[in-house]
Amino acid sequence: MKAYARSPVRANRVSTPGVSPPSPIDGWPPAPYSLDMTSLRERLRALPTFGADLPLFDPDTAPADPDELFRSWLDDAISAGIRFPHAATLATTDDEARPDARVLILKDLTPRGYEFATRTDGAKAHQLEAHPDAALVFFWSELGRQVRVRGEVHRAAPAVSAADDAARAPHARAAARLGVQSMPLTSRTDYIAAFEAEARAVLADPASPTRTWAVHTVVPRTIEFFASTPGAGQIRLRYRRDGESWPRELLWP
Ligand SMILES: Cc1cc2nc3c(=O)[nH]c(=O)nc-3n(C[C@H](O)[C@H](O)[C@H](O)COP(=O)(O)O)c2cc1C
Repeated sequence: MKAYARSPVRANRVSTPGVSPPSPIDGWPPAPYSLDMTSLRERLRALPTFGADLPLFDPDTAPADPDELFRSWLDDAISAGIRFPHAATLATTDDEARPDARVLILKDLTPRGYEFATRTDGAKAHQLEAHPDAALVFFWSELGRQVRVRGEVHRAAPAVSAADDAARAPHARAAARLGVQSMPLTSRTDYIAAFEAEARAVLADPASPTRTWAVHTVVPRTIEFFASTPGAGQIRLRYRRDGESWPRELLWP
């Protein structure tokens, strides 16, 4: 059986190193879909890095307030048309001090910090109750930028979580009411049936709250801005909270 690079069956193909199978059609498939025998390591190494058209960043003129810089970078990511510019990886630690991480959505940036929302019965919620410290990482590849936020995590007052819940799409609210998040699911079919019933219930009674939903805030202690620059290496600028001010320093890349 012939299989092209990127085809899902390729992983199962038995191949002879260094020998390329003949192409079934002359000139097809075109690069980069060629029948290649290169290792994953080589393919990964050959992937393009950042382009030459990255936005400029001058750390000397960076604002004194890191929120201002974050907002302008987020605006840049939105204007650049990046999908999920508000997605971030949230890292937490479990009871064995082992890190855990997952993607979620930034809900807001308030004077207090970075808000996200999640279920209160899942793994991350339990980890945060026991170890209320976390890191958030934003990555905007098209801009060559990364932002790392570290700080204490606080659960919002019930009224704040209820307002966030009420503004969510009915199907998302329904999903957050089913089962116990992060626990094994025995049947996908049962899940879909339960989801459809719950979605109908939410539509019928939109005022009913999702009791397993809570807004959380990462109150930043440090915020680091990373920018790749065309031809001038990488810039790392870290803000550290000091009372009401945010002294900043460059870091070795
Ligand atoms: C693009 C994207 C956005 C997501 N947004 C959220 C979110 O805002 N809140 C959330 O709890 N999970 C979100 N998830 C799902 C989480 O990544 C994760 O699967 C889920 O919260 C369970 O995590 P846990 O087992 O560590 O608690 C999102 C996933 C993706 C891929």
